[in-house]
Amino acid sequence: MNALALQNTFDFVQPVNDAPKSAPAAAPHILRPISIVGLGYVGAVSTACLADLGHKVIGCDVDAIKTDQIARGVSPIHEARLGELLAQGVENDLISATSNVADAVARTDITFVSVGTPTSEDGGCDYTYIESAARAIGAGLARKNSYHVVVMRCSIPPATTMNVMVPEIEAASGLKMGEDFGACFNPEFLREGTAVADFNEPPKTVIGANDERAADMLKAVYAPVDDNIITTSIEVAEMVKYVDNVWHAAKVCFANEVGRVCKPLAIDSHKVMDIFVQDTKLNLSPYYLKPGFAYGGSCLPKEVRAVAHLAENLGIETPLINSLAETNKTQIETATEMVRRSGGKKIGFLGLAFKAGTDDLRESPILEVINTLITEGYDVAAHDPAINAETRVDNQFSYVRHVCPHLEPVVEALPSLLNDDALSILDDCDVVVVTQRSEDILKQVGSRLGRVKVIDLVRLFGEAPSIQTYEGIGW
Ligand SMILES: NC(=O)c1ccc[n+]([C@@H]2O[C@H](COP(=O)([O-])OP(=O)(O)OC[C@H]3O[C@@H](n4cnc5c(N)ncnc54)[C@H](O)[C@@H]3O)[C@@H](O)[C@H]2O)c1
Repeated sequence: MNALALQNTFDFVQPVNDAPKSAPAAAPHILRPISIVGLGYVGAVSTACLADLGHKVIGCDVDAIKTDQIARGVSPIHEARLGELLAQGVENDLISATSNVADAVARTDITFVSVGTPTSEDGGCDYTYIESAARAIGAGLARKNSYHVVVMRCSIPPATTMNVMVPEIEAASGLKMGEDFGACFNPEFLREGTAVADFNEPPKTVIGANDERAADMLKAVYAPVDDNIITTSIEVAEMVKYVDNVWHAAKVCFANEVGRVCKPLAIDSHKVMDIFVQDTKLNLSPYYLKPGFAYGGSCLPKEVRAVAHLAENLGIETPLINSLAETNKTQIETATEMVRRSGGKKIGFLGLAFKAGTDDLRESPILEVINTLITEGYDVAAHDPAINAETRVDNQFSYVRHVCPHLEPVVEALPSLLNDDALSILDDCDVVVVTQRSEDILKQVGSRLGRVKVIDLVRLFGEAPSIQTYEGIGW
């Protein structure tokens, strides 16, 4: 166990042994023939930019108008510098285009897949284009006798590369992934309008791969534009793309709600957000951005209520801000349900305050869990190094009594639940819920791992133990 992996409860800096692997040095830039299946916004830009790096690129599309345009060096879309780079690529004999995917695959070493992935009728992902592209790629691979890498670039639900694309390719080619060909997922982060500039200066390059050979071939392609490529599993890379875009959407909606609240108050929302974004320690940072337990304490719940109340009084709709308390409650209920499902009757808690290093119990979310369990008849014991019989618990609760009068049972019971020995809690309870991160808790829980059921709400270990007696709340 790496103690360096430990961070304070809300000190969400990337744990050391959990950090994405980065290439220690730039991969060599090797020129290879590349085929690109799907010449829409992503495919057309990749075609032009990869040729600009010196690769020979064959663009493929079922749309004859697009292949004709690309073959003539004409951009099928409005995108800065795209026409210029396509024309240059055609002139240098680096770009060609065809509707024959199998033929293009057979004549190249790497295939990028950038077909459309529209929303299906049930709200999920329509795999039709991926499936037909994969079948054509498989037919092309069947004609080859050298190693080939297929790179999925579409935004897709996790596991689509391995469960949809790869089986179709294997069935059509009779080849085996990992032996005859490699598969990668390489999310596209370009922004339309600045796509060429984004290709040359990417916010990040992520390669999801299950075998090193495939990852290395793709790394060599991106070496000239990124010397710090992130490699991970295919499924993590697939999820990264979705999470990125949901996060961007959340930011847009959050900023717009701030604007809606500020305007009737005659406060310039841009001045507010200009200051907000300058805080790269807490606001635009990894802080608060790792899955874990609910927010709590004396500030966040109170201020979220205050802004929601302010908006309501102004007659302003702020559904995103209003939803925060609800999603926080869901996290508390999730933790409670994990305890119920564990089958234990005697439940220990390591940590009572909303984070380590404070005795402030005001709106500590774990008290909600304990309160429910006590009411349901569970036997509860709790340890918090900052809280003892002298802590003026009652005094703290008088502050929030009107907000959470339902917590009366836990307030009453708290002094009798306290145990100043964390190890005896680990030894005597059926299940131990970890609610704080600290070096002591890491050592104590680490020393009993496998002997007692552990429910981890804070990602105590950089790498989550894969043993039956351990369960994390969001991993
Ligand atoms: N547009 C963006 O800014 C952007 C950014 C990042 C990721 N993405 C993702 O990249 C993927 C492609 O997006 P896009 O905007 O370029 O799509 P698009 O609809 O503009 O282009 C898709 C192209 O694929 C072609 N196609 C479909 N089936 C084919 C097949 N079997 N063989 C060959 N060509 C085929 C279509 O004719 C079309 O030209 C999507 O998954 C999208 O979510 C898009």
